[in-house]
Amino acid sequence: MNNIIFLNTVDSTNTYLKSVINDVNEGTIVLAEEQTAGRGRFSRSWISQKYMNLTFSLLLKPNYGAEKFGLLSLLSGIAVVRASKSVTGLTTTCKWPNDVLLDGKKVCGILSELVKDSNGTSCVIVGIGINVNQTEFPEELQTTATSLSLHTHTTIDRLHLLSVLFEELKKGYEQFQSGNYSAIIQDWKKNSTMLGQHISVQQNNSTLTGIATDIADDGALVIRTDSGLMKVYAGDVTISKKGTP
Ligand code: BTN
Repeated sequence: MNNIIFLNTVDSTNTYLKSVINDVNEGTIVLAEEQTAGRGRFSRSWISQKYMNLTFSLLLKPNYGAEKFGLLSLLSGIAVVRASKSVTGLTTTCKWPNDVLLDGKKVCGILSELVKDSNGTSCVIVGIGINVNQTEFPEELQTTATSLSLHTHTTIDRLHLLSVLFEELKKGYEQFQSGNYSAIIQDWKKNSTMLGQHISVQQNNSTLTGIATDIADDGALVIRTDSGLMKVYAGDVTISKKGTP
């Protein structure tokens, strides 16, 4: 993971990487100080204050069946948790499918997109946004968003965090490429407090409620509902209260 394209301002690092996908190698990273149209899941925007945080996208060309796509978000979340711990000492946790929480609030969001290049090769663009040194958030985000700095009360060296994170992403991706999927799932479970909790998952026009019970081999979330175990591949999860696993 060496080729880094550093941009001052861009619409979205995911969108930019998609536009140059045929001209760059696997492992290319596009990093921007400012995104004018940063994107989150479900067409939401990702708002990040210039020079304060980390917003970047990474190009992967995994040699797997597309059915393992979900695991790439999980391993990216684990890498963020580990790098944050190593650089700041803070304990963050993974929330399925691709958020990282700090004290119950979102400190990092991950947007993974599956695209094909002009050769028909399946590529995954993993976009990661981490709130590092931002201490003020727009009113509508104040109850749900936080940053690492709000908890360390220091200014965090973003480049240091980035380099540790690259190493962690590299290790996780090597595990993935070698087919050691169960290790990724185990690591994710160790770094999440979500299993055993009562959750609701918003999917298109329906809401599924139950206890988050497990992560399946393909990265899906297994939920125990009144009608039995169900696998969920996408959706917006709200954690409501403690339950039994
Ligand atoms: C989410 O929480 O829904 C995912 C947010 C992902 C934000 C990152 S910032 C870098 C990359 N570029 C984007 O436009 N989005 C991702």
